[in-house]
This record gives sequence, C-alpha cells and structure tokens, in this order.
Amino acid sequence: MNIDKNKETGSVEKVYTFRVSLVNYEGIYRDISILGSQTFDDFHYAIFDAFDRWDEQSYKFTTKTDEIIDDFCGDKDSELDVEKTKIFRQKLEVGEHMTYLFDFADQWEHDIELLSIVPDDGKGDYPALVNSHGDSPAQYEENEDDDYEDDYDFTELTQKRYSVRKFLRDEVCKEDIDGILKVAHNAPTACNKQPQRIYVVKTAQGKDKIKRCTECHFNAPLFFVVCYDKNEAWHRSFDGQDYGMVDCSLSMMQMMLKVQELGLGSCFVAWFDPVKLRSELELPENIIPVGILPVGYPADDSIPNKMHTEKRPMTEMAIEM
Ligand SMILES: Cc1cc2nc3c(=O)[nH]c(=O)nc-3n(C[C@H](O)[C@H](O)[C@H](O)COP(=O)(O)O)c2cc1C
Repeated sequence: MNIDKNKETGSVEKVYTFRVSLVNYEGIYRDISILGSQTFDDFHYAIFDAFDRWDEQSYKFTTKTDEIIDDFCGDKDSELDVEKTKIFRQKLEVGEHMTYLFDFADQWEHDIELLSIVPDDGKGDYPALVNSHGDSPAQYEENEDDDYEDDYDFTELTQKRYSVRKFLRDEVCKEDIDGILKVAHNAPTACNKQPQRIYVVKTAQGKDKIKRCTECHFNAPLFFVVCYDKNEAWHRSFDGQDYGMVDCSLSMMQMMLKVQELGLGSCFVAWFDPVKLRSELELPENIIPVGILPVGYPADDSIPNKMHTEKRPMTEMAIEM
C-alpha cells in the first residue's frame, strides 16, 4: 500500500472526514474528506462548492480553542489564519464538533462533526465530497431587485450624485432610512473592526441640536451623524495611525449613493463645531464625530453648486508609472 507521509511531521498522512450540516435546515449536510496537511482555506472551498455557493464571502471556523478566520488580524491569541492553519494542527478528535460561519451578513451557520480519521493510502484526490444529503438552499433569496441590477449603471449613479443644499420639508420614510443604514453597515472597515456609530436624528428637538452646531444643516428633515468609537477602530501597528475616520468615510460614501438611488439628496458636512456637537448630543469621550449627512428630497430648484463640475484634469489625478 502506498502510504503518504505528512511532509511537516514526517508521520503518516491522515484523511479526516467531516460532516458539515447547515444549522436551522434539518437534514442538509455534506460529508467532506480532507487531508490533515491541507488548510482550513482548502476546507472552506470544499464546503463552498459542496453547498453550490457562487459568491465569495468572509467566513470563520471556531474550534474548542481557536477562531480560524479569513480576514486574519492576529489581534487575539486565539486567532489563526485560514491559509496557514492545517487541519491536523487543531488536534481534533473523532466525535468533536466545531462551527463554520459563512457570510457575516447573511450568517450561514454550519455545525461540523469529525466522523473519522484514517491513514491516507495515497490514491485519493482531496478535499473530496463523499456524501451529500438534501438540496442546498440558494445563497441569496431571489428578489425583485434582480432585474434592476442587470441594467443598473453604477457610473451613472455616481455622476448624478451632487451635494444637495436645499431640501423639501417632506419626511424620509422608515424604509428608506433603513436602506441607507444597511449600506453603511455593509461598508468595508479596517480589519473589519466596524467602529462606526451612526446617530439618526429626525425629531425637531434633535434637529435643533444639529442646527446649533453647524450652519450647513440646510434645514434637512433628517440627519445622520456618523461617528466612530476610537476604542474599537483599527490602529496600524507601525505608526499607530487611527483608521476610524476612513471607515466612517467609506460608510458615508455608500450612504450618499444609496440616498441618490432612492431619489433623495445629501451632502457630506464636515463644517461643524465638534465641541458643541459632543455636548449637544452628549457623545461619550470615545465617540469621535466625522461627518453629518443631512438627507431629504431635493427642493425643486436645487441645483449642483459650481464646484460640482470644477474637476481637475484626469491626468492630474491619475498618474501613470
Ligand atoms: C470630507 C468632506 C467634507 C465636506 N464638508 C462640507 C461642508 O461642511 N459643507 C458643505 O456645504 N459641503 C461640504 N462638502 C461637500 C463638498 O463641498 C462637495 O462634495 C464638493 O464641492 C464637490 O461637489 P459635489 O459633491 O456637488 O460633487 C464636503 C465634502 C467632503 C467629501
């Protein structure tokens, strides 16, 4: 028999067979065999294919002792990188369970049980799907937006957006507010720290508070005050650079585009008195305000400020090397 040796340990290569079951979906599971010397990243792709997924998302495995994750920051002692962590390193025992979470937004939870560990005879190709039970649910639910996405022109959306500084009095409905918050929530953040804290200001009393802090309130019917928690933001270890402001800016950009898509208008406002804002909104010391986003329906005579079209030549911005 052709017995392979694990190159790292010199011991006999082993085949681990796991049962990966979808939590909350009874009876849907896949049995996957993988070599001990293969990584959790290899395991992830085997699960990805076995459940007919097509859109890559973040994921993590959680064992008794460790979190093995794909957007590895190395912040915690228990955190390991999927690409560097081999299956055998976890010292798993038959019957032991771990979890696998795929897509931190849609939260596909899986329970994984180790069914067997046997010596590798060198004949198989791994990872391998060895048993499949139940149809995998679609990665995303079909929704009405799908047709829209097909002929959706992103560049056009960015061109249509301009800073709106004159609004109608009409209120923004809850559904639209939720839609705007959703894209802020979807935005990327440094090391996925998600330090943004967004205050939604829609009461008359709240709006008066904003008006006392900035002239750039434009009498909007709604404000988002986008802040971050400086204790949660990622700091680059080389120089301590705080990325909270970048995280907030990325959320705000997505919010402005969503606002545009909804037929509303907005303007990024940095011209506010931060000391007054802190005291008016009673912001704790660790909460740093980055921008205010007045939002509402643009007034009928709202037009872009001339700055909107004053663009430096592309050659000045894009530098070929
Ligand atoms: C970080 C940042 C801060 C800004 N602050 C203000 C502000 O306090 N008040 C204001 O009226 N516009 C503000 N703006 C809007 C800019 O003036 C505007 O984006 C720029 O002139 C281009 O015009 P456009 O947004 O219509 O394309 C800000 C924009 C950014 C990105």
